[in-house]
Amino acid sequence: MAEFDLAIRGGEVATGFGTSRCDIGVKDGRIVALAERITDAARVVDAGGALVLPGGVDSHCHIEEPSRGGYASTGEAEPPLTVNEESFATASTAAFAGGTTSVVCFIPQWKGYGVWDRYTDYRARAAKGMIDHAFHQIISDPTDAVMNEEVPRLVAEGVRSLKVFLTYEPLHLRDEQYLRVLCKARELGCLVTVHCENYDAINWRTHELLKHGLTAPKYHAWARPPVVEREATHRAIALAELVDQPIQIFHVSCAEAAEEIARAQARGVKVWGETCPQYVSLTAADMDRPGFEGAKFMCSPAPRTKEEHARVWEMIRRGTLDVISSDHCAFSFEGEKGKRQNGSDAVFRDIPNGIPGFTARLPIIFSEGVSKGRITLDEFVRLTSTNPARLMGLAPRKGMIAVGADADLVLWDPKKKVTITNALMQHAIDYTPYEGMEVTGWPVMTIRRGDVVMRDGKVQAEPGTGRFLPRGPYDMIKPRGITPDGFDPAPAR
Ligand code: URP
Ligand code: ZN
Repeated sequence: MAEFDLAIRGGEVATGFGTSRCDIGVKDGRIVALAERITDAARVVDAGGALVLPGGVDSHCHIEEPSRGGYASTGEAEPPLTVNEESFATASTAAFAGGTTSVVCFIPQWKGYGVWDRYTDYRARAAKGMIDHAFHQIISDPTDAVMNEEVPRLVAEGVRSLKVFLTYEPLHLRDEQYLRVLCKARELGCLVTVHCENYDAINWRTHELLKHGLTAPKYHAWARPPVVEREATHRAIALAELVDQPIQIFHVSCAEAAEEIARAQARGVKVWGETCPQYVSLTAADMDRPGFEGAKFMCSPAPRTKEEHARVWEMIRRGTLDVISSDHCAFSFEGEKGKRQNGSDAVFRDIPNGIPGFTARLPIIFSEGVSKGRITLDEFVRLTSTNPARLMGLAPRKGMIAVGADADLVLWDPKKKVTITNALMQHAIDYTPYEGMEVTGWPVMTIRRGDVVMRDGKVQAEPGTGRFLPRGPYDMIKPRGITPDGFDPAPAR
């Protein structure tokens, strides 16, 4: 019997901390050897000088997420239950096509409901896909029963991050509720991830805009300018500091919000910042395309300007923003679940927020970042794989090329020029906001736990082979032990 199940030979292995020309030996789905030459293998992949990267880790994506009016405000008391168009099977295909091998996605909570049933339902949905997955638990209604009985059960199951929204009609938390979530997370050893936009300010701007007949998709950006993001980011950090709870700020779209993070980091506060490809590639002007086309680019926070892209890159280079996720939250353009679900002339308030982004994430960041000289290859690997894996407690199993890690690998052609089309995205959605964008650098093979799941764009993986990734306690998100006046309302375990 061969010593290795698989050998990847002749690649330029990029670990995020340097590159070296070496072979990789895989046994039972794990990396067991990095050596100058590996010969005794049952199967061989000839990398032919391509880059070999750790599989992408997308720590913010919405897949098959049952929702009650989650990402638009239709004004109904209880909107009907809908489920994302992207199933775990279609999302796995899209992710593998783009070089991503692990995801962290969201178990919903609807106001007035608990979370345990949603967790069991979501585990069953995810088990039908092909991609390895961990979960964030959304908290939109932190009642005693949810926080004291159900959330501890979830943490014991390996759900180790709680997601809160400071905006969206059906999801947002008041400050007191947010503090409650922070304290419980501290007690249980969880990370809290936060969507930072000011709910009241957005509501007020929305009503004013609509009152003046400014209803088109482009006014989505006017309703939520950078200042509402900056304010909520500042508040989210200040309250986390009050109770000494580590947090990650999701989808930072502008430098003024990132500066709040940088200031807190300089004080030693445990706060991390994530951004997404849309905030270095799409602009508010995209939402001003003719007719209803602008809806294709509507996400929250809203895309900004080209000048802002340069400032976001600077915050990435400084390390203030150290994770780049997709925030894949996809609605087709057409169809009853799509962007037009409230009509082709729906006012911006009633158009669902979110855009597809799984497949394009790595190519856009590689092309705009590495190919254009804004970041190094090492930084690219860390931003898109190693850092999210570490922050989410998935490393060293995920996000690393090291002995003992899962053999999740991507062969990457750094010179390949591709024009993005929707067909290349291989998702369940009928459009991509990146249609026509030219990128340099593309994944040519994706390997998940030693199995080739994508070769030259063709995805082949058996539904039901994706594994749940339970997460235990980890040091990175331990509180600092510093609270104002030393009063500690929720001693950390
Ligand atoms: O527009 C977005 N980002 N929709 C997804 C939900 C969220 O805000 O993360
Ligand atoms: Zn999101």
